Amino acid sequence: MQTLPSLTIGQYTVPYPIVQGGMGIRVSGANLAAAVANAGGIGIISAVGLGMQSPHFNIDEKNPKKRQTEFFRANQLALIDELQKARALSPKGVLGVNIMVAARDYESLVRTAVDHGIDLIFSGAGLPLNLPEITAHRPEVALVPIISSVRAAQVICKKWQRLYDRLPDAFVVENPQAAGGHLGAKAEDLGDPAIAPETVLPALVQYLSGFERPIPVVAAGGICDRASLTHALSLGASGTQIGTRFIPTEECDADPRYKEFHLQARPEDIVLVPSPVGLPGRALRNAFVDRVNRGDTPGLKDQCFANCLQVCKFRDRRETYCILRALDRACRGDVDNGLVFAGSCVGGSPRIQPVAEVMAELVAG
Ligand SMILES: Cc1cc2nc3c(=O)[nH]c(=O)nc-3n(C[C@H](O)[C@H](O)[C@H](O)COP(=O)(O)O)c2cc1C
Repeated sequence: MQTLPSLTIGQYTVPYPIVQGGMGIRVSGANLAAAVANAGGIGIISAVGLGMQSPHFNIDEKNPKKRQTEFFRANQLALIDELQKARALSPKGVLGVNIMVAARDYESLVRTAVDHGIDLIFSGAGLPLNLPEITAHRPEVALVPIISSVRAAQVICKKWQRLYDRLPDAFVVENPQAAGGHLGAKAEDLGDPAIAPETVLPALVQYLSGFERPIPVVAAGGICDRASLTHALSLGASGTQIGTRFIPTEECDADPRYKEFHLQARPEDIVLVPSPVGLPGRALRNAFVDRVNRGDTPGLKDQCFANCLQVCKFRDRRETYCILRALDRACRGDVDNGLVFAGSCVGGSPRIQPVAEVMAELVAG
């Protein structure tokens, strides 16, 4: 089998064309990110909701206003903790942070990450149109939008060039037909060949070849072994972003029960679930997801304690559920009453493995 190419994004090069996808809440923290970086990939901390399980935050049900201020501040402080821990665990590794545009504390998290030595910022769940402006004081930080269509890449490139004289350092193309977490397409459009990687990846590579300097494309969604990795590269991708395959690992930051639940999952356990942000998510079937898919509103009595998202059906219309609480419950180990995101490619791990072993399998075939 052919040796794999290295991956260069901005001024950062890693031996293997593998980015570990940012996974919130606290599924990919400092431990997982550092382990992937040490094994020759790019390790990513997900910045979403880090304050939840941190010494900086305490849910005080009697004073919601105070909690909101404290929550955003706690997110910031907890991100600093994770960044410092990851750098201590991987002094020379390439480390990035994943920050969702849809989060109301997006700008504060981006500033915090660049001011504390992060190498790259990956940003999706919306178009990161002002990312170069927020990071202008640290131009060495590589900026990587996460998109699902060529159209989104065109909008970002045009706007960044016109307003900031800058281009993205890479794009992650998330395949809504297979990726875990929130999807960049409606449920009814998931069968459309126009959104398949076989269509989008070559078209995006073609569009980006018109720029003077290379802008690598990183394929995400459903990549879990050497065959799927090689297939993504054959479509023109320079690298891959892998999430689900890194969950049943020793270093994954989630509770052991979360990792076990993933380890035992089979492809038939994968379901779509509505989310308060509008677009669906892909997750493992459990009692929580069954209730949501029946139209129940689990946790209706929950208060919106953080006002964390720009758009939220739970906050505004009491529909669906509080995603912060649902993701937080899951990663603390309550896999019946929490939301356990997963990509379509589950069931490939023989046991909870060290990240180095998973990396070796991914690159060796
Ligand atoms: C548990 C879980 C949590 C995720 N959280 C985020 C997130 O916070 N932000 C984000 O941009 N993507 C998130 N994703 C998507 C991943 O970063 C990655 O792109 C995706 O998992 C790739 O597909 P795969 O799981 O099939 O490898 C999440 C995925 C999973 C499985």
